[in-house]
Amino acid sequence: MTNALFNANRMKLGVMAFNCSHGSTVTTADGAWPMTWEDNAALARMVDAAGMEVLLPVGRWKGYGGETNFNNRTFESFTWASGIGAVTKHCTVFATVHAPLVHPVAAAKMAATADHISGGRFAINLVAGWFKNEFEMFAAEWREHDRRYEYAAEWIELVKHLWSAEEAFDFNGEFFQGKALWSQPKPVQSPRPPIMNAGSSPVGQSFSAEHADMNFVMLRQKDEDSDTAQIGHLKTLAADLGRASQCWIHGYVVCRETEKEARDYLEHYVVERGDDVAVGNMLDIFGVQSETLEPAVLEAFKYHFKAGHGGYPLIGTPAQIVEAMQRLSAMGVDGILLSWVDYLGEAKQWIEQVMPLMEQAGLRAPFRPSAG
Ligand SMILES: Cc1cc2nc3c(=O)[nH]c(=O)nc-3n(C[C@H](O)[C@H](O)[C@H](O)COP(=O)(O)O)c2cc1C
Repeated sequence: MTNALFNANRMKLGVMAFNCSHGSTVTTADGAWPMTWEDNAALARMVDAAGMEVLLPVGRWKGYGGETNFNNRTFESFTWASGIGAVTKHCTVFATVHAPLVHPVAAAKMAATADHISGGRFAINLVAGWFKNEFEMFAAEWREHDRRYEYAAEWIELVKHLWSAEEAFDFNGEFFQGKALWSQPKPVQSPRPPIMNAGSSPVGQSFSAEHADMNFVMLRQKDEDSDTAQIGHLKTLAADLGRASQCWIHGYVVCRETEKEARDYLEHYVVERGDDVAVGNMLDIFGVQSETLEPAVLEAFKYHFKAGHGGYPLIGTPAQIVEAMQRLSAMGVDGILLSWVDYLGEAKQWIEQVMPLMEQAGLRAPFRPSAG
């Protein structure tokens, strides 16, 4: 079976962050995601049956405070992936793994387990560390930024070796040492499960190009030309190493019958019901010096993070959203991971109203389950 990530659809789709309370929207609006296993399983089954490619959890260990305590409740991502893999048939199911918080020997085996449970549909979203406050829970060393990527490089090298080695081996790295290392069973996928990484700094981008099959990019969204250049740069970095790398983004969606309805609802959940305390804490954790930003820039930044955790806005009618995705495809985007305020209700609407238009526009082929 071929992993859905590598099918021929020009714009691949997935759903992200539904293993976390409030998903990607920092709001107290009615219907905001309470995050139960029953809802996770129902959403995953619906998305899977519609033929989307990816189900992706966020790797998050504590919330951001405020009235929502945004992302306070989160299912751990390897165990989540195993459960989701068991209730779906088609989608690629990711775990988001913090390299410094999970030992490679444990990670290689957990990944192989999830790959068997899902019948060869597992993938890893490898993150090097973003939020210091999470690392403090583990008393884990918070390395200097670029050092974190050196650590992640050795981590993934060791995991890949564990996935492929047919003989026990000793490992003497800078960060990891061990004797007679061994992991069985191997993953179902050969040579290995796919790897995604969201590094965006120069070192993070080089890491992605060298070690990942897809980069999960946060587009700067200044204008189309600069976004196109940002994506082109990522793909060139990989091509220069003789590798192909897909480019995925996060898109937050408000789809309504009219553009006005969509914009009114966005304003409602972001401005009337947005959680300013949580987003303020998020800025602090990001190390954004809010007092040094122009008030208008700061407000725009906060708006964007309350609306969808800094993702790409897909706001309007089904036709307008498909036009936006055609532009994104022309810019080099290979896939979008979607989020909504009300995942279950709005994913259903997406499947019924947006996906047929994507097919008409040539962005996707109709889904035939037997085609895998
Ligand atoms: C869409 C997206 C999702 C991300 N998800 C996570 C996550 O779940 N957990 C995490 O610790 N970091 C996450 N990150 C952070 C990245 O791994 C990375 O640290 C960040 O983009 C900054 O890049 P840099 O590490 O190269 O400075 C995410 C980033 C993006 C753009």
